[in-house]
Amino acid sequence: GLNDQEWQQVLTMWGKVESDLAGHGHAVLMRLFQDHPETMDRFDKFRGLKTPDQMRGSEDMKKHGVTVLTQLGKILKQKGHHESELKPLAQTHATKHRVPVKYLEFICEAIMKVIAEKHSADFGANCQAAMKKALELFRHDMASKYKEFGFQG
Ligand code: HEM
Repeated sequence: GLNDQEWQQVLTMWGKVESDLAGHGHAVLMRLFQDHPETMDRFDKFRGLKTPDQMRGSEDMKKHGVTVLTQLGKILKQKGHHESELKPLAQTHATKHRVPVKYLEFICEAIMKVIAEKHSADFGANCQAAMKKALELFRHDMASKYKEFGFQG
């Protein structure tokens, strides 16, 4: 797990993400779909978006970015005691959306990159390491819940 100082670094940084949740969320999804186009196949609702320009202009994608980062923020704020926030998310992503653990890794990478781009001055090595650890914990616990729901991910 993370120590108090690491959680503090994570949540301080998250405060900066929350200053523009829509901008960050949209950038994370753009980055995910650009780096790993196959992840887009999971989304029926984004089927019509073919070009980076269409993605950039999509209110729907912006809205979904807010949904994703809002839920991730709720989880991070539990500082590891996130069972009740994580379980329903793992359930839908395992049984309904069928999102492999690998794709969770891809989106976590996208989140790290977007924060690094938007907050380079405040995202030093220690803070990056703390955020990476928090996202790894999230993924690890999602993967174990996936197994409980019978999805090998
Ligand atoms: C829907 C959060 C990663 C695919 C959702 C919802 C939330 C959410 C809160 C709406 C409620 C629900 O259906 O459970 C997150 C978080 C993620 C994450 C916090 C990781 C940080 C991913 C990834 C994919 C994905 C990597 C696929 C590549 C979907 C799909 C939906 C969905 C297909 C349904 C979209 C719709 O039709 O409205 N996600 N998600 N999610 N998510 Fe995720």
